[in-house]
Amino acid sequence: LPPVPEFALHPNPHPVPPDARAAALEAPRFGAVVTDHMARMTWTSEDGWLDRRVEPYAPLALEPAALVLHYGQEIFEGLKAYRHPDGSVWGFRPEANAARFAASARRMALPELPVEDFLASVRALVTVDQAWVPPADDASLYLRPVMFASEPNLLVRAARRVEYVVIASPAGAYFAGGAAPVSIWVAQDLHRASPGGTGAVKTMGNYGASLASQAEAYRHGCEQVCFLDAVSGRNLEELGGMNLVAVRADGTVLTPALDGAILPGITRDAVLRLLAADGHEVVERALPLEEVLAGLASGEVTELFACGTGAGVSPIGRLVGHGFDARVADGGVGPVTARVRAQLMDIQHGRAPDERGWMVRW
Ligand code: COI
Repeated sequence: LPPVPEFALHPNPHPVPPDARAAALEAPRFGAVVTDHMARMTWTSEDGWLDRRVEPYAPLALEPAALVLHYGQEIFEGLKAYRHPDGSVWGFRPEANAARFAASARRMALPELPVEDFLASVRALVTVDQAWVPPADDASLYLRPVMFASEPNLLVRAARRVEYVVIASPAGAYFAGGAAPVSIWVAQDLHRASPGGTGAVKTMGNYGASLASQAEAYRHGCEQVCFLDAVSGRNLEELGGMNLVAVRADGTVLTPALDGAILPGITRDAVLRLLAADGHEVVERALPLEEVLAGLASGEVTELFACGTGAGVSPIGRLVGHGFDARVADGGVGPVTARVRAQLMDIQHGRAPDERGWMVRW
């Protein structure tokens, strides 16, 4: 990492006791528990970025008139810290998260956070809360940087005061069933994003807009929702919180192209690179629901999986929607999914060489 700005440390005088922390780390449930500290910075239009600090995790003071509560001017990121077998703690392509955070800021008229500050804030928090990085083979510390408009004002315009906060939470599998295949509900009435909208950046509205369909997915016994594109209504686009990949019997890998309405996942990118290096032809293009359903029926489509920082590589066993309920092969974990999942996790957890220079020591 380049030399990084200093973050002042204000230690938490009442940290979680070590035995309670150890219990929380034993089998972490995604997002359920937060660590002792948070990294923070404040931005004003007069003075720029100020007051780099790590302080006790605590509720935020926010005026009810804060712009974010009314107009949703907010962006966030998700990345993880992994404990390697020698006890050291590593990040996975954090500079890619920093770059995406800056792209999200531009789209949402928020100030860009310099890459050095993004990296330094995460490093500062991971350093202070390193005892919270789980030792388990498949667990990690999930890091959630968030930036939001804190200026109290009801004018619909970009805020002149903004807060940046990084919190951390020990994470196991995103889905309650661990690595078991999940069922996906295809939302046919509501959409997540449209061309020219905000679907390609990480802002709260995309996720808020997914929740009614996510609730519909739960009602149909599915763990996650998949949206169709808003223009033709025919192409599978993105899940509520992860990207989608299909594998054909001939080994070809298909995934929706980054058309401006899809989040450019860092896990998506890594997985596509690993699959290409393994000899798979990787095709990024529109992925019609009809083609996938026909392929599942004929055996032409052999595997589907979801991928994201939170989800990792998660196999999909069923695709369900109004008028269809299609099993993916035998409903188990396909060999291509299993292999790329293991390859990625082995790199992230320090069990395989990092040939691409993806890992950064915190
Ligand atoms: C992530 O994967 O980091 C996200 O932000 C998506 C969310 C569903 C956990």
